[in-house]
Amino acid sequence: MIRPIEFPGTDAPTPALIAHIMERYHETHRRELPELISLGRKVETVHAFDPNAPHGLTQALEALIVDLEVHMRKEEANVFAAVGAGHSEGADVPIAALRHDHSGQEATLNKIAAITHGFRLPSYACGSWTRLYAGLGKLVEDLDEHMFLEDTVLFPRLEGAA
Ligand SMILES: [Fe+2]
Ligand SMILES: [Fe+2]
Repeated sequence: MIRPIEFPGTDAPTPALIAHIMERYHETHRRELPELISLGRKVETVHAFDPNAPHGLTQALEALIVDLEVHMRKEEANVFAAVGAGHSEGADVPIAALRHDHSGQEATLNKIAAITHGFRLPSYACGSWTRLYAGLGKLVEDLDEHMFLEDTVLFPRLEGAA
């Protein structure tokens, strides 16, 4: 059984909030994105001549995984590590750059929504296609929540302390 990872609350101490973000989002993206890429490649290949298929999805997901990994490492090395070491002043923490990365991630999610025709499955969709869109729906939800939590709860604390 998968243990639900509970949100510690918006008033949780910053280290607890960061531990939650790491476990619930960073690790989840790292585990699930490669699975979505192989499933996407399979669906695009099998349905190569179907206009309803999500053409360009694999490429968009491959770009997302690279961008997201660079971004998460930046957060882990500059922000999370600094807070863990007790330096929450944020003087050289590149919060503005991280917020800017989030805009790029949002744009990629919009692109994926367009490629998948709003995640609409045709009536004849196979099992892989169905699993792919379910997984993409979860990715979008997780990444939206992840960015929301950083933008509205975590980052303002660090900006406020700068
Ligand atoms: Fe993050
Ligand atoms: Fe982020």
